Amino acid sequence: MCGIVGYIGDKNATPIILGGLKKLEYRGYDSAGIAVIEDGCIELRRDVGKLTNLETLVKEEPLSGTIGIGHTRWATHGAPSAKNAHPHVGETGKVVIVHNGIVENYLELKEELEAEGAKFNSETDTETIVHLIERNLGSTGTLEEAVRQSLLRIKGAHGIVVISSLEPDKIIAARIGNAGGVVIGYGEGENFVASDIPALMEYTRRMSFLESHQMAIVTKEDVHIKTLDGKEINPRVDTIAWDPVAAEKGNYRHFMQKEIHEQVRSLTDTLSGRVDFEKNQINLMTLNLTAEKARAIQKIVITACGTAYHAGLVGKTMIEEMSRIPVEVDIASEFRYRDPIIDEKTCVISISQSGETADTLAAMDEARKKGAMVLSIVNAIGSQAMRVADGYISMQVGPEIGVASTKAFTAPLVDLYMLAIYLGDLRGTLSEEKKFQYVHDLRIIPELAGECIRREESVKKVAEAIKDIRNILYLGRGINMPIAYEGALKLKEISYIHAEAYPAGEMKHGPIALIDKEMPVLAIMPKDQWYEKMLSQVEQAKARGGMLILVASDGDENAKNLGDHILWIPDAPWLLMPVFTSIPLQMLAYHIAAIRGLDVDQPRNLAKSVTVE
Ligand code: AGP
Repeated sequence: MCGIVGYIGDKNATPIILGGLKKLEYRGYDSAGIAVIEDGCIELRRDVGKLTNLETLVKEEPLSGTIGIGHTRWATHGAPSAKNAHPHVGETGKVVIVHNGIVENYLELKEELEAEGAKFNSETDTETIVHLIERNLGSTGTLEEAVRQSLLRIKGAHGIVVISSLEPDKIIAARIGNAGGVVIGYGEGENFVASDIPALMEYTRRMSFLESHQMAIVTKEDVHIKTLDGKEINPRVDTIAWDPVAAEKGNYRHFMQKEIHEQVRSLTDTLSGRVDFEKNQINLMTLNLTAEKARAIQKIVITACGTAYHAGLVGKTMIEEMSRIPVEVDIASEFRYRDPIIDEKTCVISISQSGETADTLAAMDEARKKGAMVLSIVNAIGSQAMRVADGYISMQVGPEIGVASTKAFTAPLVDLYMLAIYLGDLRGTLSEEKKFQYVHDLRIIPELAGECIRREESVKKVAEAIKDIRNILYLGRGINMPIAYEGALKLKEISYIHAEAYPAGEMKHGPIALIDKEMPVLAIMPKDQWYEKMLSQVEQAKARGGMLILVASDGDENAKNLGDHILWIPDAPWLLMPVFTSIPLQMLAYHIAAIRGLDVDQPRNLAKSVTVE
């Protein structure tokens, strides 16, 4: 979604803002803009398309000043165009704003403002905010107060950053609800504002995060954080430890490929500090769970979106198997509107890479309102999903830049597996032998993940062979059924090939009618308790002439005889198998998209963090 960067200090704000926006490109955008205060006046440059267009414009028409704001926009109201791109300046030309979110009552506000004589220059909802601020500036006299009064008028969730040539010594930033984060970065004689951590990592590691209904008044020397009703807050300043090099592409062609390869390390990091092989223990201290609290849980509801939801589906099998707590898995955007049956004996677990997905955060709010215990499994440190939960597991995979999630899928699978053991242990549902086995099985994860990745060349050959397909059906069963969903999602989001996924047992109830020579079938059939069932499904597809691509365990003779193409995987314990069946499917999707010459890291219409409904 939209990216925001702001700077105030003694340096030229332009390269800092453009550099910061570059670090947010992965979020997806369709236009970009920058505003700085130059010689007491607001100077604005905006353009559609990639940031390079804006950079070219800034070269042709340079602007410099020591305070400024910038934005990458993902259109919600009004087409992608230079005039709809942010920042937006008001009629007086003295106030300028960047905004992330949707003004839900903008039509009503626009009508009111137009009736008062306001002239709108764009089709955006954002422009209403700058008109409101200008009007309030007239009556309140200070930018801080004008912003506060204006925020009280707009409905919805928002992150906004404002500067004014009338008060050129400050940036005002504010957050309402879950429309993405607002991060304040602390420098020496300079300070920063952004929507996300990576934008600021080159300049500072010291950051604090605005909560909902808070605003920050940022000068080059100071940061004051207040609630919207004026109460001063003493902000917590976190030191962010991510390595900025990790956010660079290195020798890889795309971030997605780099992130697939990083999984040996990310899965090692996932285990570090959590597993004690000597003592046969899992330690998930950040969950803040006691045996008493764990025993009181009568139901778990996992809620998430997209890839994170698929991880939740795998987690259901793991948790039910090891802790015997019934688990429901719900798509967060559905959960929030369904009046779900949950109470204080329910534990709601949200899974999110960004920790800022609006639907997931709203589901957490809903769970909290109903008195449930709220936990999260989250990657972005300091994100809202981490902060508002009663306890959390940090994915520890570092920044994930590619829009298509890979390492932030396999890590929560292992987190959920560890959580299942942990709950089983706290509740006393796990025998010592079983616990030993489950804990012990964790050892092989990095090695087996590495083995899957080493087979990339053979996956690439399959990608070459099937790169021109137009449709494909993914099938899986049991714990690998969600991997069929995830594999299909990966393929469609980056290669734009129509991919459908089904639990294999459902084929006979309808989808089998689709299978003919034109409809390839990808079946996930490792040697586990569902193997025989999958085999008969695969045979039926073969009989109907469909091309077969199989994800099969090394040495499987049946697969060898039936499959047109095989993605071999090493043998592994069944509960952990999804980690290894998913990796070849990530590589397959990646190589098909890369061979087709597509924008793998920023696929069309998609954003890395979906901070609007
Ligand atoms: C993953 O490949 C997708 N781009 C998408 O489904 C993503 O998983 C979903 O939007 C949820 O994001 P989150 O994990 O940041 O909450």
